[in-house]
Amino acid sequence: MQYFKRIIDLHKYLSEARANGLTIGFAPTMGALHAGHMSLIHDSKQQNDRTICSIFVNPTQFNDPADLEKYPRTVAEDLDLLYDHACDVVFLPGVAEIYPQEGFHTPELDFEGLTDVMEGAFRPGHFAGVAQVVYRLLNIIRPDRLYMGQKDYQQWTIIHSMLDQLQLPIELVMCTTVREPDGLAMSSRNRRLTPEFREQAPILFESLSACLEAILEGSKDYRHLEKIAKEAILTAGLEPEYFQIADGYTLQVAHPAGLSKRLVICVAAWAGEVRLIDNLYLDL
Ligand code: PAF
Repeated sequence: MQYFKRIIDLHKYLSEARANGLTIGFAPTMGALHAGHMSLIHDSKQQNDRTICSIFVNPTQFNDPADLEKYPRTVAEDLDLLYDHACDVVFLPGVAEIYPQEGFHTPELDFEGLTDVMEGAFRPGHFAGVAQVVYRLLNIIRPDRLYMGQKDYQQWTIIHSMLDQLQLPIELVMCTTVREPDGLAMSSRNRRLTPEFREQAPILFESLSACLEAILEGSKDYRHLEKIAKEAILTAGLEPEYFQIADGYTLQVAHPAGLSKRLVICVAAWAGEVRLIDNLYLDL
């Protein structure tokens, strides 16, 4: 496994790989890696000749400075894990490498409401930061395929829209959420849960699953299902921010009489000081 901190060195590696006709898969991360990230590496390795993972805690996507400060940083363990999974290249840029003083061009994008709802409503500016850094990383790496997790379903949809708007020839692959045996979605934030909240946290997956099941059984009152789920989450001691049955493509509130071809059920909740998100989707 090779690792690079500077773009210039990564470019040398990439031009050689391209000259040899090799395909490149790319998994962007903010470190604190876990089995969920390893599934991105695994899928990329299956589909590409070379796999690159970036580790960069992007300051521009944190609307809350305390959250940025508390974000776990575990580079030595991350490198061990990537090595064990035979990742080919790790890109570990510093802030000045990604955001040079001379700036860089970011195109105007119109996400048509995708960024206003759910995570976008509760974390103002978050997706502008995500789009900015992913655009920058794609510009540096120019991969054939980009690997992102279903757990951040809204993020995936926004990056999909970005690739579409810019007509970038990059295939975006959605990797399924990896879960702990009790259903809790793997997340870098889980390691900050207290033992008490860790025990209660699977309520998110349980309430998503119950909601999905109710829809499959024909329940049509989506707003009532959302209310029941929020109550269950509150009863478990977590503080829900939203529990939303949305259209899987527009991310707007879904209605049973609507024309949605896919529904996505998304949840965000505070487990003490830790904000967790999860989702399930259903193709109709
Ligand atoms: O999902 C993440 O970890 C981040 O939002 C990403 C895509 C690496 C951009 O910083």
